Amino acid sequence: MSRAKISVIGAGNVGATCAHWAAAKELGDIVLLDIPDRAGVAKGKALDLACCGPIEEFDCRITGTSDYADTANSDVVIITAGLPRKPGMSRDDLIQTNVKIVREVATQVAAHSPKAILIVVSNPLDAMVYTAWKASGFPTNRILGQAGCLDVARFRTFLGMELGCSVEDIQALLLGGHGDDMVPLPRFTSVHGIPITMLLAKDKIDACMQRAKVGGGEIVQLMGTSAYYAPASGSIQMAEAIVKDKKRILPCAAYCEDEFGVSPGQKGAGYFVGVPCVIGKGGMERIVGLQLDAEESRLMAESVSHVKDLVTTVRRIFPDLG
Ligand code: NAI
Ligand code: 2OP
Repeated sequence: MSRAKISVIGAGNVGATCAHWAAAKELGDIVLLDIPDRAGVAKGKALDLACCGPIEEFDCRITGTSDYADTANSDVVIITAGLPRKPGMSRDDLIQTNVKIVREVATQVAAHSPKAILIVVSNPLDAMVYTAWKASGFPTNRILGQAGCLDVARFRTFLGMELGCSVEDIQALLLGGHGDDMVPLPRFTSVHGIPITMLLAKDKIDACMQRAKVGGGEIVQLMGTSAYYAPASGSIQMAEAIVKDKKRILPCAAYCEDEFGVSPGQKGAGYFVGVPCVIGKGGMERIVGLQLDAEESRLMAESVSHVKDLVTTVRRIFPDLG
């Protein structure tokens, strides 16, 4: 069986950390690409990481570059190119600059790796997934956004801290956009099968949900730029599910029309929103439908409406992405 090829666009904090996790898991050969001015950074990080192989016992070819020819025929491409937020900024403040970057990157990726599955990470995530879809022209099953894996991991972490139990035993679900109005779902959250509501009081669950919603901002305030260990870990969780055809059910930003009432009956006019999906070698293979109650539906509709506003802004800035 041939080795998978994973390209990571953007050799900054998230991109380099994606390369790190992918190498540590020996997922395949890795290409780390940045703009020509930062080719040295991409090459240096790739070389440094390659030298971990003998210690960590992985065999991966790791290439740093600014030339898309080196990414040719990738199986998975992770797009992390773009500005991160600084203290006081929302993810949405990045839209103007990052649409241009993601649009150019997705166009190049499509030209060099026409069969790749794209995992978009750049923010504002829900608008950038849409941008990558339009710019690449790829079918919707090969375009995914990373948000839910990270946001659920944060929710599970905070629940684990509260309960004093292993995070491995906590299962949780979260829907919606990658904004502070994301929708954690306590009704679908359990600890080794025990509903969370039987283990924690409502105010404690609410506090964990709230901390997960603003968890990205908490880290920006602490260190002056946005998080990267867990965002990269979430991205590689998705890449691993694809490369190993694991059929994992992961919360990802995936193209929805009728699903979750996002754009009912509007063929070809859907949006990428965080929903549980089966992830395997076909990319997004299936959305797992859920019957939401009235309050969950209301919160989901609010979050989807924010995603739609972001996409409207993208279309206004770049009418050709409409
Ligand atoms: P960073 O500034 O460390 O790295 C970004 C890299 O992208 C830089 O090396 C830059 O030179 C490169 N870049 C810029 N334009 C490019 C182009 N046209 N082609 C190739 N590379 C280009 O930023 P960081 O922390 O790695 O964050 C990257 C993006 O990911 C940001 O937009 C950030 O908001 C987003 N993010 C998303 C998360 C998510 O869960 N979806 C979580 C964390 C960050
Ligand atoms: C995060 O949630 C900034 O989206 C990034 O950490």
